[in-house]
Amino acid sequence: MGIKYYEQQRIYKLDTPRTSYMMAVVDEENFLGHMYYGERLEDYDLTYLLRTGEAPFVPSENSRERCSFMDCFPVEYAGHGVGDYRDGCIRVRSKGGHSGINLTVVSHDIYDGKKKLEGLPATFGGEKECSTLEIHCEDAVLGLKATLMYTVFEDVDAIARSIKVTNVSEEELCLTKVLSACLDMDNKAFERITLHGSWARERRIQRQKVGYGKYAVSSLRGEPGHQEHPFMALVTEGTTQDMGEVYAMNLVYSGNFLVQEELSQFDSVRMEIGINPDDFSWKLNPQESFQAPEAVLVYSAEGIGGMTRSFHDLYRKHLIRSPYKDKKRPILINNWEATYFDFDTDKLISIAKQASELGIEMLVMDDGWFGRRNNDDCALGDWQVNEEKLKGGLEYLVKEVNKLGMKFGIWFEPEMISPDSDLYRAHPDWAFAIPGRTPAMARQQYVLDLTRKEVRDYAYECVAKILRSANIEYVKWDMNRPLCDIGSLGLPAGQQGELYHRYVLALYEMQERLITEFPTLLLENCSGGGARFDAGMLYYSPQIWCSDDTDAVERLMIQEGTSLIYPLSAMGAHVSDCPNHAVGRVTPFETRGYVALAGTFGYELDVTKIPEEDRAMIPKQVAMYHKYNDLVREGDYYRIASYGENQSYDCYEVVSKDKREALVTYVQVLNRPSRHSRRICLKGLDAAAKYRVEGMDGVYRGDTLMKAGIQIENMWGDFKGKIIYVTAL
Ligand code: DGJ
Repeated sequence: MGIKYYEQQRIYKLDTPRTSYMMAVVDEENFLGHMYYGERLEDYDLTYLLRTGEAPFVPSENSRERCSFMDCFPVEYAGHGVGDYRDGCIRVRSKGGHSGINLTVVSHDIYDGKKKLEGLPATFGGEKECSTLEIHCEDAVLGLKATLMYTVFEDVDAIARSIKVTNVSEEELCLTKVLSACLDMDNKAFERITLHGSWARERRIQRQKVGYGKYAVSSLRGEPGHQEHPFMALVTEGTTQDMGEVYAMNLVYSGNFLVQEELSQFDSVRMEIGINPDDFSWKLNPQESFQAPEAVLVYSAEGIGGMTRSFHDLYRKHLIRSPYKDKKRPILINNWEATYFDFDTDKLISIAKQASELGIEMLVMDDGWFGRRNNDDCALGDWQVNEEKLKGGLEYLVKEVNKLGMKFGIWFEPEMISPDSDLYRAHPDWAFAIPGRTPAMARQQYVLDLTRKEVRDYAYECVAKILRSANIEYVKWDMNRPLCDIGSLGLPAGQQGELYHRYVLALYEMQERLITEFPTLLLENCSGGGARFDAGMLYYSPQIWCSDDTDAVERLMIQEGTSLIYPLSAMGAHVSDCPNHAVGRVTPFETRGYVALAGTFGYELDVTKIPEEDRAMIPKQVAMYHKYNDLVREGDYYRIASYGENQSYDCYEVVSKDKREALVTYVQVLNRPSRHSRRICLKGLDAAAKYRVEGMDGVYRGDTLMKAGIQIENMWGDFKGKIIYVTAL
């Protein structure tokens, strides 16, 4: 059991294999203070860190300076408007219109296992795998109860946190802010790592020094978006991939978020994460509850790489549920970049025929197979098969593809509606809109108001009906615009502030229904590339399309940022044709294959049209995928060099859990005139074991390969890549 309560000192101690997290209840008022998060400790009474002995400090001894206490106490979950001037975690509007709130501890429960978070994605684990602490708090003035939930896992250095709030008063209350986690830390000079981007440029790593004041990243797009990411890491100055302390937070949520750090006047840092309080409110009638999404906290004393490996392990073992989670995914070929909207049955079958001969295992029919969808201006919502394009119907096409020994997959965008669609003509009120205001279009489309049950049911049935009609084994669930102008006929004026969150809950409900009705389905989420690549969606789909940018060089940076948190097994990555459709760059087919190998692997091109020498390489790439995918999917990820940082070359390695094999991927993006080989040091091997390195004579111990390293020969030209397989004797 990783959780202990020390009754006399009123201390909670949470242990993961290599970390400890400690809180204490202090003073007569039962404030909950945060004492410590870091490397695992055996001592538990660190109450001196809370300064409670530095009298007169606590309010019971010095009520004249209550504000001073509130404003610097390292509080576990910060209230609002009652003397702590740092940004709080929770805000409630009372019937009287006031917003003050202060939560204090009443009792707690500790148990093995973990309860589900109703309607929300969350990490999971059995009674032997994790234990949970629930700290029950209250604000007696408001009549509000709040349960702070903490789960620690036996096998991963991560803590899952959340909060559930219940109105126990006799009056209506309105939540205007409920973050999921907060961490107050003292006296560390931090740098901050966040992920930023744009369409086709997702999750680039940004690192900056933390300064006084607040720094926030957030979304109001109804999804995390291409631009910001619900993740932040505070790292001690100089932290590298291998050394230094890292405190990271990631939200298991697919909607508007806020993640923020604040360096205070007293040099304490508060880091918080949760639903974005902007445009959020939630009405709580007496006895009603609100469940906030889950936040994951990771501490690493082994640099950024240690953090990455904890997130990967947690998500692979305790978040992704799909039957595919521990399996090789079929190598797919998707027709989007091959044909865009210009395809028919014959074209798809000709691609499938050629692809099957080369060893590709699944054909995915992308956008354009329904209604009058010959471009992206129309027909979203009209989910009837376009039989002019698909002569003989969908069932015929699927059967023909199956006859070739291939699986069949299909694209949907169920959350959207085109103004030029039969659905919109019949139900214009089904799109989100603010009365009197024409909603802004994006990609010529509106967003369906899925918060209304009839709309949600309709959208779900459209998808399910198609899936019931043929042997479809994969769905790409796309979403090509962010939300705006949200207004719903389904809710009264006082509850319009609930819409963004209700939308996310509706999306989760639809995807839960889908994987329940079609339990063997391989679901891949997507949002205009990777705008909804988040931990929430991983609960429903084991893989997510990483980016619309399939250029091998851009992908190095996109995949580096994505794999900072998310396992390689989840990253949708394909080999596409050149010149690349996003950037116009020409890279060798071979390199494109190595780069896509770091993800789910597939193709996104017209295999009947690519150069013969490229086509000839496909069977080799297919064989490579089959040889290395178990290792890539399940192994430990180590970053050796970052093209994003050095602007010259990229190198990462995956080591099997038993350290018996490793795969190094190296891409020389820009060649240099010296033509010398380059030294790289491997990581994560067993220091005393002996290894053979593909392409090198002799046998070397792990410590030699990690400390002295190996030489990578210079390759003539730019964008050249290679992989190096390392095996223990
Ligand atoms: C955006 C996706 O990221 C693409 O792969 C493709 O499916 C298009 N949408 C289709 O509209």
